[in-house]
Amino acid sequence: MHEFSPGLAGVPAAKSKISFVDGQAGVLEYRGIRIEELAHQSSFMETSYLLLYARLPTEAELDKFSADVSHHRRIKYRITDLIKCLPEHGHPMDALQAAVAALGMFYPARNVLDPEVQYWSTVRLIAKVPTIVAAYYRLRRGDEQIQPRDDLNHANNFLYMLTGKVPDPLIAKALDTCLILHAEHTMNASTFSGLVTASTLADPYTVVSSAIGTLKGPLHGGATEEVVEMLQEIGSLEHVRPYLEKKLAAKQRLMGFGHRIYKVKDPRAIILQGLARQLFAYYGRSALFELAEEVERGGEELLRHKGVHANVDFYSGVLYKTMGLDPDFFPAVFAMARVTGWLAHWLEQLKDNKLFRPDQIYEGIHGRPYVPLARRGVGEDALE
Ligand code: ACO
Repeated sequence: MHEFSPGLAGVPAAKSKISFVDGQAGVLEYRGIRIEELAHQSSFMETSYLLLYARLPTEAELDKFSADVSHHRRIKYRITDLIKCLPEHGHPMDALQAAVAALGMFYPARNVLDPEVQYWSTVRLIAKVPTIVAAYYRLRRGDEQIQPRDDLNHANNFLYMLTGKVPDPLIAKALDTCLILHAEHTMNASTFSGLVTASTLADPYTVVSSAIGTLKGPLHGGATEEVVEMLQEIGSLEHVRPYLEKKLAAKQRLMGFGHRIYKVKDPRAIILQGLARQLFAYYGRSALFELAEEVERGGEELLRHKGVHANVDFYSGVLYKTMGLDPDFFPAVFAMARVTGWLAHWLEQLKDNKLFRPDQIYEGIHGRPYVPLARRGVGEDALE
């Protein structure tokens, strides 16, 4: 019998060569390369290749991979019809989960061990997730879907599909950096969820739709959305301190703070904060960003002693809001990036797959008699 660890904290669920985190030193590497280097020098397409295929691509390999992704951005009109049928007040992550599960019906990928199936389903998922997110964004407002453009890079094309305008290069570069930073993060809840599904040899669309469902929760990717809601609730700089104190006194959590692994400030939050500073130095002050920095200062003072600091979700929402996205779309943008990490783990696991089937510690009773309905009293025989 192994020792029980709630939330499987500290229990390795896989051996992996994809990414590495040192939560005490604040280090994150993708395939051995520091996240700071990738954020400053790479692109989301190149980083995706690195995560999926374990090395940086040559120019020709990168061109081919980027072209394959660009050429598979369109979604079938029936997927658009499906998205049109969803309620306009629905959550974008539910729309994304439903549409990704439906995609799998158009591209059967049962033989998951076939390298062709692996390559093309990977390309399709990375290519089509942004199109689905942008389609729901437009359609739920009653606007027409905007078709993707093959000549634009991943971030540019996504922002173009939201508005029909080619974005300012600085904004597109900021989104591309956000996508790099969110692409992968070791054995987090959504990756684990995807791998549990993958271990049954389910197809990759089902794997990704499981992971999307897990990412949605407020303790995981849903925190991005809640950070901006919290900032809007605080409203102004002078309300920061009383708000934080009241919240913590009521034993509530500050969204965008804390991490199971990092006990220092999340290195991705440091990069995102720098990116936001650069952006607002160029475009002009942002009251929301100034408020966020004040909340971070206050949160640091109050929570530092517990090893709780700002995480990746803290500044990303402020950036996404600047890009014109509604808060409930933030986790879907996270999913657009993380789809690469999920698929990298899927490919890695298939090399030596074993069905996940953990154990439990049974704490119930044994040998209980069955009491016929006619002889059961109210409240009698309750389990607890
Ligand atoms: N606000 C206030 N206190 C916190 C926070 C927070 N955000 N996070 C942790 N703490 C406190 C806990 O109350 C606890 O205090 P105690 O020892 O006095 O009881 C202590 O820090 C340890 O907390 P745990 O819950 O044991 O830490 P865990 O590793 O399980 O938590 C988690 C990680 C779930 C992410 C947590 O920090 C949290 O709820 N954060 C808010 C949600 C969030 O931002 N999620 C995004 C994470 S990043 C990502 O998924 C991409």
